Amino acid sequence: MKLEVLLSPELLAARAADFFTAELERKPKLTVLVATGNTPMLTYAELERRVQRQELDCSSLTAVQLDEYLGLPESDPRSLYGWMNRSFLEPLGISKVIRFDPNLEPDPACTQFEAEVARAGGIDLAVLGLGPNGHLGFNEPPSNPQSVTRALELTPESLSSNAAYWGELPVPTHALTAGMNLILAARRVLLLVSGAHKRDVLSRALEGPQTPSLPASYLRDTDLTVLADIEAARGLK
Ligand code: GLP
Repeated sequence: MKLEVLLSPELLAARAADFFTAELERKPKLTVLVATGNTPMLTYAELERRVQRQELDCSSLTAVQLDEYLGLPESDPRSLYGWMNRSFLEPLGISKVIRFDPNLEPDPACTQFEAEVARAGGIDLAVLGLGPNGHLGFNEPPSNPQSVTRALELTPESLSSNAAYWGELPVPTHALTAGMNLILAARRVLLLVSGAHKRDVLSRALEGPQTPSLPASYLRDTDLTVLADIEAARGLK
């Protein structure tokens, strides 16, 4: 595991964009698992600036959706596909996407998703945020490392942290998530962590026991790079 501590969220975003750019230069047909949430937004905005300056070409990469709420049409502002589309796919000019098919029932949508990821040769790079309860995507605690892509009920912690995203609108209670199996098989993982509210969960993820009650603790078994801002990193030994 490599840990880099950055002095601000902006510097974290610049470093994450450098990391992403280097991966893409190495392999233009990169398959990337893409988190939404607040943390990676500055990074995606920095990547967009690089695309606009024609320093970066993302047209050959395949983006893979990380998670999605159940029961929302794509036009709903809370749709995580919609969020990924607005913040990542459109600005970076990406048309190849593996997503949860909204026209399928949850179980077949998950089976199809796993088959498409396998056909693509697996995930090259997973860009992840850290749930305040240690979840990855929506692999809620407890999730063991073999957990597959599936539908599940969100924990109260996730409902309350996700409530901050859209003001008054309620958070859907059920979701689909790329499984721990896919995340942990990614060739490289970039974990982005920002803010004092992530201090405790980050130190447990990197320094505590590996346990299903903290799914992020299993990232230490991958080729992991953690970029943390100083506020998040302050709790580390
Ligand atoms: C959310 C999402 C994750 C995200 C994480 C952290 O619940 N399901 O995909 O990475 O929690 O979110 P944030 O970056 O907003 O703290």
